[in-house]
Amino acid sequence: MYHINIIKQQYGELTVLSDLKTSINEGEFVAIMGESGSGKTTFLNILSGIVDEYEGEISYFDAPLQTLNKKQLTEFRGKEIGMIFQDFQLIDFLNVTENILLGNDHSSVEQVNEMLEKLGILDIKDKSVLKCSGGQLQRVAIARALISGKKVVLADEPTASLDSKSGREIMEILKMLHEEGLSIIMITHSPSIASYASRLLYLYDGHFVSDLQLGDKDQSSRLKDIMDVVGEVYEANL
Ligand SMILES: Nc1ncnc2c1ncn2[C@@H]1O[C@H](COP(=O)(O)OP(=O)(O)O)[C@@H](O)[C@H]1O
Ligand SMILES: [Mg+2]
Repeated sequence: MYHINIIKQQYGELTVLSDLKTSINEGEFVAIMGESGSGKTTFLNILSGIVDEYEGEISYFDAPLQTLNKKQLTEFRGKEIGMIFQDFQLIDFLNVTENILLGNDHSSVEQVNEMLEKLGILDIKDKSVLKCSGGQLQRVAIARALISGKKVVLADEPTASLDSKSGREIMEILKMLHEEGLSIIMITHSPSIASYASRLLYLYDGHFVSDLQLGDKDQSSRLKDIMDVVGEVYEANL
């Protein structure tokens, strides 16, 4: 789905990503870990076309993103990529349904209801988002990201603002969507959140220093493997 070869990405004098090569297949659920400031958000922003200044090549299926202009990148993102964030990024003065329809003008209220039902929040369809819990808000954000039938979601620390129970509920939803075929690329600081993914990429010093397949293991063995990777990277860089 994505073929990525970032030779160098800088903000002014600051080099964030360098010699970063990887591929991500359709249907994968990839967790990205790495220290604060290591460039995880920058990497996701390159995949979505928000950051477009770098040396290298990124292809999404047959589209070479580095050749697209800003307008084409915005169209690409609108058509292909769903995004969810730590802080939900919903509009305070709109209710749940209105938030989901915003920017999704081809979707119908029936489709919204179907999506809300699937995510277990149909009962709050008319609720003001100001009155929703964090877990409800992230489900609304997932509904907004995916309502128009997108096949890829980029998630930047989607559980970081949630208590651990709501975080696990959101991960169960992402797991269900992944089992239905959604491709997910998710940043997290938490090994236990990462253990829902089928692959772990660890970003350090501008590129991925570890690439671990977690696929067919149960969740506690995935967690153990992830803890081992985190420990090894930490020890190697003391
Ligand atoms: N728009 C920007 N302009 C300048 N520097 C930035 C910008 N965005 C991020 N940075 C810097 O790039 C580095 C990587 O940031 P980021 O990708 O947000 O890391 P992470 O998500 O892993 O915490 C940090 O040092 C950050 O301060
Ligand atoms: Mg970040």
